Amino acid sequence: MGSLVFGVWFLWAAYTIPLSWCHPNTCRSYCGNITIDYPFALQYGCGHPGFRDLLFCMNEVLMFHVSSGSYRVLEIDYAYQALTLHEPHMSTCHNLVLGSRGNGFSVEPWRAPYMNPAADNVFMLIACSPRSPLFQGFPGKHLPCRNVSGMGCEEYLSCPAWEMMGHKRSGPASFFGSGPLECCAVPYQAIREINLTKLQCEGYSSAYSVAPLKVDGPGGWSYGIRVRYSLQGNDEFCGACEATGGTCGYGSDGIRQVCMCGDFNSTSNCDSVGIPSGATHNQVLEGLLTYVVLWMTSNQISKVGYV
Ligand SMILES: *[C@@H]1O[C@H](CO)[C@@H](O)[C@H](O)[C@H]1NC(C)=O
Ligand SMILES: *[C@@H]1O[C@H](CO)[C@@H](O)[C@H](O)[C@H]1NC(C)=O
Ligand SMILES: *[C@@H]1O[C@H](CO)[C@@H](O)[C@H](O)[C@H]1NC(C)=O
Ligand SMILES: *[C@@H]1O[C@H](CO)[C@@H](O)[C@H](O)[C@H]1NC(C)=O
Repeated sequence: MGSLVFGVWFLWAAYTIPLSWCHPNTCRSYCGNITIDYPFALQYGCGHPGFRDLLFCMNEVLMFHVSSGSYRVLEIDYAYQALTLHEPHMSTCHNLVLGSRGNGFSVEPWRAPYMNPAADNVFMLIACSPRSPLFQGFPGKHLPCRNVSGMGCEEYLSCPAWEMMGHKRSGPASFFGSGPLECCAVPYQAIREINLTKLQCEGYSSAYSVAPLKVDGPGGWSYGIRVRYSLQGNDEFCGACEATGGTCGYGSDGIRQVCMCGDFNSTSNCDSVGIPSGATHNQVLEGLLTYVVLWMTSNQISKVGYV
């Protein structure tokens, strides 16, 4: 009877000891002081396939690469599912960069479901041609330009960078005059592609608000592109994989998700490889426990029979 109790305890222990003790996460890493974790990764085959070929670490500087160009990653906020990006050709309150050299922002169509600039991120397009597609379909003075999360061009034009350019604060910004429009602020969702060449703009700036903090004046805004990422709700795979001690990745096709379990890869989770007909590790243990209980019961019944 004693060995049987031990046997039951042993099965229970095997059932509850975390499997993660056996195979550590080989995908998690650092670049400078930024932690790279799921869904991001630096190695091919690690992370979620929607974020493959996206981040690169060069001399401890984390770079983000999409169709519009490369950006430096300032921060990854896993709790709010956001990244903050910067690039040297983006204008700020202290520096104007003209000559259409800025990246702007756009992603490959296949990536768009996974990441987009945040709704409270403002893009301020600088010195756009009156013939810009930005203004097509907006006759007269009905422009798409507007404030986003309390940030807009009227305030941005008071930045020191504009004084250096000889800008005089005299009345409202010039619309459809002889020269180009000085500045037009839009949320990303309004145009879905910030391409300075296509929009015929000389430059751009981008700022975001870290709600609920309300900062006064453009000198206090955070300059950079705040990108929100999303796993499109199909993340049960990784949840199940990590719960069984696995590390989430994807196969060589760059599409199919894979659960890495140390010395083997699974197409579902680390409990379910090598067991046929879809039975999981847990189901097999439950089956064994049921068998043991049945064996004990029948043993006692037979003992009673002998009395
Ligand atoms: C990382 O280091 C930079 C300076 O090198 C600092 O500005 C930033 O706040 C640090 N970020 C974190 C998350 O510690
Ligand atoms: C598991 O998959 C990853 C990512 O595709 C790959 O790098 C690794 O070599 C695979 N491991 C095994 C044991 O097949
Ligand atoms: C930006 O627009 C120009 C002109 O339409 C085009 O040639 C270029 O490929 C676009 N850039 C991106 C990153 O889509
Ligand atoms: C944006 O906000 C500023 C300051 O609150 C205001 O003066 C301006 O009229 C607003 N502009 C637009 C386009 O709504």
